[in-house]
Amino acid sequence: MRVLIVGGGGREHTLAWKLVQSPFLERLYCAPGNPGIAGVAECLDFAADDVDGLKKWALQEKIDLTVVGPEAPLVLGLADSFREAGLKVFGPGRAGARLEGSKVWAKQKMKEWGIPSAAFAVFENFEEARSHLARFYGGPVVIKADGLAAGKGVTVASGLSEAEQALYDIMIEKKFGEAGNRVVIEQCLSGEEVSVLAVTDGKSLVFLPSSQDHKAIYEGDKGPNTGGMGAYSPAPVYTGELARRTEEQVFWPLLKGFNDAGIDFRGVIYAGLMISGDKLNVLEYNVRFGDPEAQALIPRMKSDLLPLLDAAAGGDLKGLDAEWREDPAVCVVLASRGYPGSYEKGFPIDGIDEAEQEAEGRVAVFHAGTTIKDGRLVTKGGRVLGVTAWDENLRRALDRVYGACDKIKFEGAYYRRDIAHRALKR
Ligand code: AMP
Ligand code: GLY
Repeated sequence: MRVLIVGGGGREHTLAWKLVQSPFLERLYCAPGNPGIAGVAECLDFAADDVDGLKKWALQEKIDLTVVGPEAPLVLGLADSFREAGLKVFGPGRAGARLEGSKVWAKQKMKEWGIPSAAFAVFENFEEARSHLARFYGGPVVIKADGLAAGKGVTVASGLSEAEQALYDIMIEKKFGEAGNRVVIEQCLSGEEVSVLAVTDGKSLVFLPSSQDHKAIYEGDKGPNTGGMGAYSPAPVYTGELARRTEEQVFWPLLKGFNDAGIDFRGVIYAGLMISGDKLNVLEYNVRFGDPEAQALIPRMKSDLLPLLDAAAGGDLKGLDAEWREDPAVCVVLASRGYPGSYEKGFPIDGIDEAEQEAEGRVAVFHAGTTIKDGRLVTKGGRVLGVTAWDENLRRALDRVYGACDKIKFEGAYYRRDIAHRALKR
């Protein structure tokens, strides 16, 4: 098969790394890709959201399957446009992608379809939102910009002034542009988060193992939220009983809702859950693989990923399942100093080969924000690399992953030392 991956981050590098292991793969392309992906696929000079350019190219090159990594092209309707042209795509069309593209829509549908999630109210007017806060404020509260905001549109406010500031930034300052035309004010939930993903053809579901992200920049889950500073899989908080209830209360009602609404969803559904005792709530749905969850999940997959993605994209999973290794995996994100705020770029990166060697094939370094400058690999983003290791138990996987991280050097390299701390405590 001739396969095109759309995107160019750590998640897409992980997908590429896995897809090239498939005997069914004939040729792999990635748009735009990154220097790590260039080691396994041919990178194309298209932005991930250049829907028309990509479609023309895919038709011309007779691409059999397009796998969309990030949410933005899905929300823009890449999958609809490709399907209209007769191209097969892994990823939902615009209607299904609304689940991630609009927090308001997602919250309304969860309520309508009986899916457990936090109480909320929606506002289009700053003064009304503010007076709602003032009237109902009784502790921490969550403020969400309606549209896509690169993972930065959510503020978990511990006090009233912080909540008002978030409202002001979103609705008046328009920090996230159009995404700030509406806000969701949501009850703040506490507990432990877990990410649960399932591949779907719109009718059936293939569940992936659980994983847990670490959103905050600092150890002990302190500081502002990032795109994710590390992940591990499986997450022991997600017991068999919780899995059963999640399938029954979080995934099947969603799929039924989609079907009743005439939405044909082919791709991956990601449920971000908050678990507290036996209470289960959905914080958000995403319509793509998590990043860095994919970097921890995909290396655990024993079976071939390509037939699974192809069957889902074709609208018939044909009873396919996936097999997983028992070994836990941990991904640690190496970031640029200053991220998620401003940071410098262009620092040379050393030690990736050393990190991958001596690891008995149990370490993989996935590129996220890297580029080539004057023939040298340098930093280009906030999240620079994702280093993943797997081993027979979590302790050993952690020793392995941090051993590998310590070998990688660039100026200002920052990473959390406490990835998987919750699992260790259990
Ligand atoms: P979202 O983009 O909706 O996933 O939100 C990003 C992050 O904000 C989540 O992973 C949680 O850490 C946090 N968050 C979102 N909603 C809530 C909530 N209702 N209560 C507590 N934390 C939340
Ligand atoms: N790691 C969180 C996300 O992909 O949204």
